[in-house]
Amino acid sequence: MSTQEKVEIPENYFLSGNYAPVSEEHVAEDLTVIGEVPADLEGYFMRIGPNPVFVANPAAYHIFDGDGMIHQIDFGGGKATYRNRFVDTKGLRLEREKGSWIWKGMTETMADMAAGTPPPSEGMMKDLVNTAMVFHNDTFYGLMEGGTPHEMSLPNMDTIGPDDFDGRLKHPFTAHPKVDAKTGEMMTFGYSPVPPFCSYSVIDAKGELVHTTPITIPKGVMMHDCAITDKHTIFLDLPITFDFTRAMNGESMLAWEPENGSRFGVIPRMGNDEDVKWFTIDNCMIFHVANAWEEGDEIVLIAARSNNTDVGNATENANADDMDMTDQLAQLTEWRLNMVTGAVAERRIDAVNYGEFPRINDNFVGLKTRYTYVAGIDQHQKGTPFVSEMKYDLETGDIQVHPLGEGCKGGEAIFAPRKNATSEDDGYVILFVRDDINQTSECRIIDAKNFEGEPAARVQIPHRVPFGFHATWVAK
Ligand SMILES: [Fe+2]
Repeated sequence: MSTQEKVEIPENYFLSGNYAPVSEEHVAEDLTVIGEVPADLEGYFMRIGPNPVFVANPAAYHIFDGDGMIHQIDFGGGKATYRNRFVDTKGLRLEREKGSWIWKGMTETMADMAAGTPPPSEGMMKDLVNTAMVFHNDTFYGLMEGGTPHEMSLPNMDTIGPDDFDGRLKHPFTAHPKVDAKTGEMMTFGYSPVPPFCSYSVIDAKGELVHTTPITIPKGVMMHDCAITDKHTIFLDLPITFDFTRAMNGESMLAWEPENGSRFGVIPRMGNDEDVKWFTIDNCMIFHVANAWEEGDEIVLIAARSNNTDVGNATENANADDMDMTDQLAQLTEWRLNMVTGAVAERRIDAVNYGEFPRINDNFVGLKTRYTYVAGIDQHQKGTPFVSEMKYDLETGDIQVHPLGEGCKGGEAIFAPRKNATSEDDGYVILFVRDDINQTSECRIIDAKNFEGEPAARVQIPHRVPFGFHATWVAK
């Protein structure tokens, strides 16, 4: 599919415009660059997202439903190569063999579960891998929070297959595990609408799953992210709940239920259920954590916080022309949890700008960080698109804004350290940008130390890169 082609499927915002899926896989070498690819940038920038091949009911399609596709820019020697590949899951293979859909989308599947409608003989849920990626133990994985990590090759992104860590992984695996860059350990968890509602595991630097414990919470919730410090792991028990009774009454199984309350649970890295220290916080929704760290008796947690969420009805909200999404949009927020007194202090770092997909220099996960990069949202535009990238200096309170330009929409950016970097922000902020006016896709490299200046490079991609979810950087 060429960059110029625009697909319009009017039934659903998330199948239209630059959300529309692409069908072909490409390799394009020696891409045209406006500016220069820095010579000290060697690695893979990748973004994964939903890219459905077969859709049972386009009107009911939810953005979480699509098959995974990864778009990659391979940087090296001052040059850039583009590749895109489907994650070749068993579910996608079965549907391709049939030539049609087997699984309905999330909304209809949950309604069927509640009504007692038998699931497809191939299984209740499709093994989608469309949300995020992680590189651990020299292994590259595609992730989705309901399933099992899928190992993939680099640079070609061939799907090797699901990895259950020698059978030791007994719970769903979040899309947002945290890797401690110093120890090489990977902390992960999974949630479920049936008990145990949450489970936690630690995988060591050699890829061995060495610890698992259930985490007791009152009700099944959608727990999308977690945080780590160098000593603790923090769970986010927030009131977006699963409720079969609600579903049997014809309402959404997944819904905002403020009566369930909001809590952070802090567990020592190798701790068990009874070791969790719970902190009640003011009700809110957090999809994504920027970072957390220890400071004396306190744990500091930085995350993108919204007043609530209606994510179960994301399609209906996006299709509406005059939906006020303000309460569902996030602002960067700090919590301080006192491990001795149990006190909680909450502070909005930015009470003006809205943004999501907070990222840091991943070498500092769990350690005190000065800088956070956030994709800025225009709350006034339909679909609340990402129109800028922001750099927060948590030490001075300074906020730098890099607007993407008229008609340009971005998404999650990552921080790629420069080779032989000498400070936390010595490197590049990289993201895909879609230019709606010129109908082009590009990859922008922003020098993190010249954040509000012109991008160091604008890599021109000769194929359309649809909007996606999470991005990652894997250094060579
Ligand atoms: Fe996420």
